[in-house]
Amino acid sequence: EKGGYEHFMLKEINEQPKAVRDTMSQRIAKDGKSIVMNELKWDADYLNSFNKIYIVACGTAYHAGLVGKFYIEKLARTIVEVDVASEFRYREPIVDENTLFIAVSQSGETSDTLAAMKESKRLGAKTLALTNVVGSSIAREADQVLYTWAGPEIAVASTKAYTTQLILFFMLALYMAQIKKTQTPERIEELIAKLKNIPAQVSETLSDVEPIKTFAKQYGFNEDVFYIGRSLDYDVALEGALKLKEVSYIHAEAYAAGELKHGTLALIVEGVPVIALATQKSVYEKTLSNIKEVKARDAVVIGIAAEGDTELEKYVDHVMKVPETDELLIPLLTVVPLQLLAYYAAITRGCDVDKPRNLAKSVTVE
Ligand code: F6R
Repeated sequence: EKGGYEHFMLKEINEQPKAVRDTMSQRIAKDGKSIVMNELKWDADYLNSFNKIYIVACGTAYHAGLVGKFYIEKLARTIVEVDVASEFRYREPIVDENTLFIAVSQSGETSDTLAAMKESKRLGAKTLALTNVVGSSIAREADQVLYTWAGPEIAVASTKAYTTQLILFFMLALYMAQIKKTQTPERIEELIAKLKNIPAQVSETLSDVEPIKTFAKQYGFNEDVFYIGRSLDYDVALEGALKLKEVSYIHAEAYAAGELKHGTLALIVEGVPVIALATQKSVYEKTLSNIKEVKARDAVVIGIAAEGDTELEKYVDHVMKVPETDELLIPLLTVVPLQLLAYYAAITRGCDVDKPRNLAKSVTVE
């Protein structure tokens, strides 16, 4: 049942090329020029009726929502707020018939996310579910559903659900951009072409596993690990830190790189591992100066960069590279070494990877 892998988590990490391909298939027009969402059939009038989108989810699905916000705002120029479901519910959210509410949930059964959706519906919002489980409670409650088609996810730590949620958000943002004409047809075609390369590039990233095993052995017994990045790199850092915490029980924190000097830098001392993502061009120089700040305190820095980057390696102790793509899509590649690092750190420490202590796959209590 584990397909030759020792754990479901490793199997599911390795299933990502197929999973992301399945999410895309049927949703790209044959000529590669547009996104097709037969499930939605939205038009400009429908989209213009919203003045705000809420994305609500928990855990890893929340982290996917953060990336979703970035995609929708960047490509479709619509205001998006993201919140964790257990917070959203209790703060009298400003929701009405001009709100589009998007719930993200692998299982489709998370109580807080379901309750947030019910409450938004009651207040008049239109609701959309991004989920993996056909016929789940959240899928049934929503007005419309987009399935990730990732196949069953058994390991408690979510991996392929995250990457397929990212693909779905990217396609949804492109679909909205098409309708709203916020991107040129040429730009949309270019992004679709790059999207189609992602499954092969995820495979390529997965094949580069040896250095990660080495890092896991070297740093697997450290008490604390910090993840830093800006923009989309920060969103991926949050997910990387969560993965490490939940399966290896190492204390890990993600920070927006620019926030370090507002307090956390006090924790950076000699030998503390810092995983620094630096793939976003618009903030590259700024991230680099934050990396220099932690290096100056003798942190051990593992940088994550895109293939063509020859700068980062001058300032860090080790560098891991992922294939080149549009910087919007690079989270699909940078998250892979972070998932693998969490997995191998857990193995190094002898943890029960597929069933971490205290956690359940589907959280149906509030
Ligand atoms: C982390 C993880 C959890 C879930 C969260 C939401 O690896 O698996 O954080 O992402 O419990 O679950 P779903 O997506 O089923 O609503």
